[in-house]
Amino acid sequence: MRCLLGKVQAMSEMDRRRFLLSTAGTVLLGCAGKTARSSTGSPCASGSDGGGLGYCLVERSKLTVPGAHQLTVGEATIMAIDDQSAAIVARDDQGHYALSATCTHACCTVTLCAGQACDSPVVSENDCALPKKGLLPSRGAAFLCPCHGSQFTADGSVFLGPARVPLPAVALEFVGDDAIVDLATPVPTSIRVRGTTACSG
Ligand code: FES
Repeated sequence: MRCLLGKVQAMSEMDRRRFLLSTAGTVLLGCAGKTARSSTGSPCASGSDGGGLGYCLVERSKLTVPGAHQLTVGEATIMAIDDQSAAIVARDDQGHYALSATCTHACCTVTLCAGQACDSPVVSENDCALPKKGLLPSRGAAFLCPCHGSQFTADGSVFLGPARVPLPAVALEFVGDDAIVDLATPVPTSIRVRGTTACSG
């Protein structure tokens, strides 16, 4: 850093302005890269710090959610590896589906709502290791973002801002009882998986 400052001081005024402008451009480009939309439609690009559950420093696009095939109708489970690798697997009367669990506002990991008011989210003591399971409300908010209070319904639609973009539906398959969620592959919200077969309902 000292070298950099010395270099700037030694430049002519014109050179100094050019140098500072090009440095600012580089910084701005870096920021733009961080907020670019990902393939799932989220504003959270890979590498963003997210501000959520940041202590699991593993980044993957495919998450294995153990035992998710055992969900009963109306249940959901959330698995978080890090801010960019968090998935919801849920089951309704049409079958299983998966959503990204990364809030589309500023990349925190959402939690399952507990109760109709969605004011006491289900939080696991160890989000890295164990999926959290809970019941989905039949209507209203199902997922709550603890950072700024956005709420999402069971299908990922925005129920309450500041988020404006739904939680993206993503590809899901089962290997035995375990769900494999591909966070890099968005799918239509209507996609459901029954057994090992995907169907659009
Ligand atoms: S990051 Fe979720 S509401 Fe802001």
